[in-house]
Amino acid sequence: MSAPSEPAITVDHVSKRFRRYMVKNQSVKSALFKRSRGTYEENWVLDDVSLDIPTGSTYGLIGSNGSGKSTLLKCMARILKPDKGSITVNGRLSALIELGAGFHPELSGRENVYLNGAVLGLKRREIDQRFDEIVSFAGRQVSEAIDQPIKTYSSGMYVRLGFSIAVNVEPEVLLVDEVLAVGDEEFQRRCHQRFEELSSSGRTVVIVSHALSTVAAMCDQVAWLERGKLSHVGNPQQVVDSYLTRLDFGNAAGAGGPASPARALPDVRITDITLDGVGRPLDHTTTELGEQVALVRSGQSVRLRMGYETDQAVPTPVFALAIHTLDGTLAANPSTLATAMPEKVDGTGVVELEVPSLMLVPGAYTLGAAILDAGGEHAIDKKLRLVRFEVAGADPGEVRGIVALNGRWGGSLLGGSGSGSGSGPGPGAGPAR
Ligand SMILES: Nc1ncnc2c1ncn2[C@@H]1O[C@H](COP(=O)(O)OP(=O)(O)OP(=O)(O)O)[C@@H](O)[C@H]1O
Ligand SMILES: [Mg+2]
Repeated sequence: MSAPSEPAITVDHVSKRFRRYMVKNQSVKSALFKRSRGTYEENWVLDDVSLDIPTGSTYGLIGSNGSGKSTLLKCMARILKPDKGSITVNGRLSALIELGAGFHPELSGRENVYLNGAVLGLKRREIDQRFDEIVSFAGRQVSEAIDQPIKTYSSGMYVRLGFSIAVNVEPEVLLVDEVLAVGDEEFQRRCHQRFEELSSSGRTVVIVSHALSTVAAMCDQVAWLERGKLSHVGNPQQVVDSYLTRLDFGNAAGAGGPASPARALPDVRITDITLDGVGRPLDHTTTELGEQVALVRSGQSVRLRMGYETDQAVPTPVFALAIHTLDGTLAANPSTLATAMPEKVDGTGVVELEVPSLMLVPGAYTLGAAILDAGGEHAIDKKLRLVRFEVAGADPGEVRGIVALNGRWGGSLLGGSGSGSGSGPGPGAGPAR
């Protein structure tokens, strides 16, 4: 392995462009025989990116769709060549970048394990030694199908086997793209555990993911790519928080744009945010998620409340609340835009939202608030993701997704009305003639 002081990966002023051809209605013949190659648009997908990934660290790459994360990872794995700049990798690299990349569909799972191992530079004997571990890590479904052609695998099985190979060949540098989002929770948990084992044994792990809370929890450093440029690099929670703040209150109705930085002292300030009395007073420097945890049951009624203060009268402000999942998905964004507009506010006051039934599935969420101008266009003050709360489930049959419908099952399943099948004696209950 390389000296610890030497970065595992050095990305040095890397730019990458793709060409998007604008040719329309061109026949095959003219495309082949005319020298003209048509017009194209150059799209710089990576723009002067430089970063060092320290040896032994777990490093996260985040950013919105199309920001260049996969492209950067592919450059690191030498699947793509940068148009400018260079990338140096120290150590044996294994990459899990695309679903089933490197698998041969006609070959069996077993043959693909050997094929992949060979590509990664392992001798047959070394793969023999690891084979059982690879298959058992991939799980029962895969191990039962290990002699079936890979093309018959589900996408989850592809990922499990691919991941299992990638982490069990003992790479010094492991690149992973988006795998955590696939597979069930149990598999994800095992993957995290394996990442931790790898990183505590000095291996370098680079992860691209949209699972922001996971990235924040497991990485030593995070880089945020925005339209091919590095936006922030550093402390995982801080980078994830700035990323989320940028996304928050996007273009949703009543949500408004970013708070105007030019306004040093807003006309209206949010002074506290609470959920059923649990919450926190705020001052203008409060930007971090609080420790206070409110506990509610799915389907329960709750009262959300924000306090405000003004220095002078402010005409027709819009009050909005925001509930986010810990991953940053906006789950609810109620506002007073259409229903409860005050003519003006002055001094201090509170705004409350009575929610008759909190329709969220069990999990952790955050509550925040914003005060917007009259049109709901611009945020005058916003404090997002500041009160943390946990929702506990009443119905164990409803735990996934975001919304809990809290419905009641009926129909023939439960021997309810209208079915008649197998529901005891009665006229017409016997077999049809
Ligand atoms: N082979 C290609 N040819 C042309 N354009 C490409 C190619 N691969 C990627 N792009 C473009 O490059 C940009 C960045 O793509 P990339 O796959 O790196 O994004 P990403 O950050 O991984 O996004 P996501 O979160 O959706 O996975 C996109 O605009 C995409 O359309
Ligand atoms: Mg991608």
